[in-house]
Amino acid sequence: MAAGLIAMDITFLLNGETVTLNGVAPTVTLLDWLRETRGLKGTKEGCNEGDCGACTVMVTDAQGVKALNACILLLPQLHGKALRTVEGIAGPDRAGHPVQEAMVAEHGSQCGFCTPGFVVSMAVAHLKGDRAHDDALAGNLCRCTGYAPIVRAAEAAAEAPVPNWMQETPPQVEPTDAVPETADALAEWYAANPEGVLVAGATDVGLWVTKQLRDIAPVAFLHRCRDLQQIDIAETEIRIGAGVTMDRVHALMQDEYPSYAEMIRRYGSAQVRAAATIGGNIANGSPIGDNPPALIALGAVLHLRKGDARRQIPLESFFLDYGKQDRQPGEFVEAVTLPRGAEALRCYKISKRFDQDISAVCGCFNVTVQDGTIRSARIAFGGMAGIPQRAHSVEEILEGRPWSEATLANARAALAEDFEPLSDMRASAEYRLEAARNLLTRYFHDISGTQVSVLGVSA
Ligand SMILES: Cc1cc2nc3c(=O)[nH]c(=O)nc-3n(C[C@H](O)[C@H](O)[C@H](O)COP(=O)(O)OP(=O)(O)OC[C@H]3O[C@@H](n4cnc5c(N)ncnc54)[C@H](O)[C@@H]3O)c2cc1C
Ligand code: FES
Ligand code: FES
Repeated sequence: MAAGLIAMDITFLLNGETVTLNGVAPTVTLLDWLRETRGLKGTKEGCNEGDCGACTVMVTDAQGVKALNACILLLPQLHGKALRTVEGIAGPDRAGHPVQEAMVAEHGSQCGFCTPGFVVSMAVAHLKGDRAHDDALAGNLCRCTGYAPIVRAAEAAAEAPVPNWMQETPPQVEPTDAVPETADALAEWYAANPEGVLVAGATDVGLWVTKQLRDIAPVAFLHRCRDLQQIDIAETEIRIGAGVTMDRVHALMQDEYPSYAEMIRRYGSAQVRAAATIGGNIANGSPIGDNPPALIALGAVLHLRKGDARRQIPLESFFLDYGKQDRQPGEFVEAVTLPRGAEALRCYKISKRFDQDISAVCGCFNVTVQDGTIRSARIAFGGMAGIPQRAHSVEEILEGRPWSEATLANARAALAEDFEPLSDMRASAEYRLEAARNLLTRYFHDISGTQVSVLGVSA
């Protein structure tokens, strides 16, 4: 263990049996522990960065069951949870799980490297009754079999009853300093350890460990802070706790803001959405995180807390400069509040691949038109600057003007006053500016009632 790391004692269920580990370093990944310490080599290592799903495991916690990538799951994140690896998907008497039987019958496996990951993702979707197989399997890559037989297997198994060994109850565990149970306990810990690292879903932090080989210490794991996982829906606003995972934000937005939900459907993969939190996506300050542009376009408010002191700021003022946020040492994100009823909100994500890809440009639009005149406009982009940012010049051009082709042309031109995007491996500066302009045009047609979805082909 590297100097400075604080070892922890943790308890979880592994394939139905209680495991207690003492002196665990916070940077050990579940994948390494399973393969190297426990000899459970069914869980494979492909990319080691959350992209391929070869390492998928099933985890049950108080929120329910989920498929997660073991390569970017730090061992202490299992404290108080139930874990099932591919070795535990078959029954105790080695009876095959229905998805395993179906994979054999449908010829869903050739070289077999990806197969354990697929089987676990399929078993989790089967347990949840999730029939959106393409979405459930988008985080699992197969290079040789092809997806048709695998999806056929998922369909074939869908009606089979869930085997009883798949229903699990997470174990009761004692609170520890590094795994606080409440936001109050976290606030106290962070005020005393302001140089500490908070780990929520670890979909960013896990990569600091596996790819950048960084030591992190001291560490607090947020997954047992139940009050940070609350979603409170009031008449005019919704408060989302920082610890709410993206799969739950997706479910929430399906009713509230379907266009936002459609964007989140393409946020990483099922495994990433089940781990990543909205608080982590804001706090990391990334210029290409998908939530901030949508939330800024909605006029969301960020709730920050340090010890007992709380403050609220408009989300857009949190992002100061590339890599710099308005957050003090020892201060953490407690929640974000957004208004309800912004019917004209639309969120568009442009990335090289449909699934499992970070945005090159993300544009979110919230324009109110009354009697043909634009009354208000909030427009925010990701990927166009060093931070997620509003398009103030475009907003000014729009407000008070008629909702017309001429106004749209002026707004398109004004985008160059708001942004000087960078060229990088995802897109050139010219592409980004042109794409952002085209998103404005798309919004104009979308709000005018034209079908603009490019997610399906129609004749
Ligand atoms: C394969 C893959 C695909 C991805 N695809 C997308 C995508 O499509 N769109 C997208 O936007 N992102 C994507 N991401 C990035 C990532 O999922 C998000 O940034 C994620 O939301 C981070 O949340 P987390 O809970 O995992 O944060 P963590 O990794 O736990 O933490 C991230 C940062 O936030 C800090 N932090 C966490 N919680 C708090 C808090 N409450 N208060 C203060 N600081 C806190 C941590 O200390 C750390 O600095 C992807 C990542 C991977 C690995
Ligand atoms: S090894 Fe590729 S997602 Fe974990
Ligand atoms: S069966 Fe070979 S990668 Fe999927």
